[in-house]
Amino acid sequence: MKVLITGANGQLGRELAKQYKQNKQVELLRAGSLDLDITNMHQVYSFVNENKPDVIINCAALTAVDKCETEIDLAYKINTIGPKNLAAAANKIGAEIVQVSTDYVFDGSVNKSLTEFDNVNPQTIYGKTKLEGEILVKNLNSKHYIVRTAWLYGDGNNFVKTMINLSKTNKTLKVVNDQRGTPTSTVDLARVIIKLVEDKNYGLFHCTCKGECSWYEFTKEIFRLKGINAEVLPCTTDEFPRPAKRPEYSVLRNSMLELTTGDITRTWQEAIGEYLKLL
Ligand SMILES: NC(=O)c1ccc[n+]([C@@H]2O[C@H](COP(=O)([O-])OP(=O)(O)OC[C@H]3O[C@@H](n4cnc5c(N)ncnc54)[C@H](OP(=O)(O)O)[C@@H]3O)[C@@H](O)[C@H]2O)c1
Repeated sequence: MKVLITGANGQLGRELAKQYKQNKQVELLRAGSLDLDITNMHQVYSFVNENKPDVIINCAALTAVDKCETEIDLAYKINTIGPKNLAAAANKIGAEIVQVSTDYVFDGSVNKSLTEFDNVNPQTIYGKTKLEGEILVKNLNSKHYIVRTAWLYGDGNNFVKTMINLSKTNKTLKVVNDQRGTPTSTVDLARVIIKLVEDKNYGLFHCTCKGECSWYEFTKEIFRLKGINAEVLPCTTDEFPRPAKRPEYSVLRNSMLELTTGDITRTWQEAIGEYLKLL
């Protein structure tokens, strides 16, 4: 099986390549943004047609949610047009497509964990562009896997590394305690994606680690595990106004995994524990 990873130098792209490398049955094609610009339709069609992958896993995205609020066209190009190009090009050669999406497709106003059967209502440009990407992938290629995740960390820039770095120059840190979600390791997400493809389990899936916490609680746990002494104080979202509205309660439930082949993700505490040991 030939697997093409786009956006291969991002957090998820790196982890997928690491896991696929252990599988000798898989021929891996890694395309970073300089090898393949997913927003360029002609480049995507010729790249896919020349290389003929069996499956394309799209890890490319504009993930800077605040930047999306001002760079709206760029956000639509990368998060909507890019997946559209890949889905259509894959469809033309009979290949499958994996599109990774986000909890930001929901408004985060309901105090319950959200399943794949709940109504979407994005409140930000990032959320809107990712949702349009989902819709186009679904419409243009019936052999699709759409996988929504949240609070992702892995090999790259992320919240965990930011907090550890901040602790080196600050004795006290204020962290938001009124937004809840589930920190998710790229290790768990990549395992799930690889299994979905192996099983040909098409459709829409939520994939986060298990459990929930606030950013404040997450930081406390990171510092506890790392033996960092900086003081962490809870604060409200209002104290840190940002261009993109953050969802208040953004806990996803992996219902489709539970109802089909099973949910192999770990608790967020177990996953962060392993990640910090390797950091
Ligand atoms: N990070 C999170 O907390 C989070 C949460 C929920 C969902 N997600 C979703 O999970 C997926 C993976 O996220 P991630 O954290 O691994 O992202 P990431 O680390 O930000 O990586 C994104 C990659 O996309 C590439 N890219 C940007 N524009 C491109 C283009 N036009 N053509 C090709 N590649 C392009 C970037 O390359 P350059 O650096 O060279 O531009 C970068 O390597 C994304 O779909 C994201 O929306 C992420």
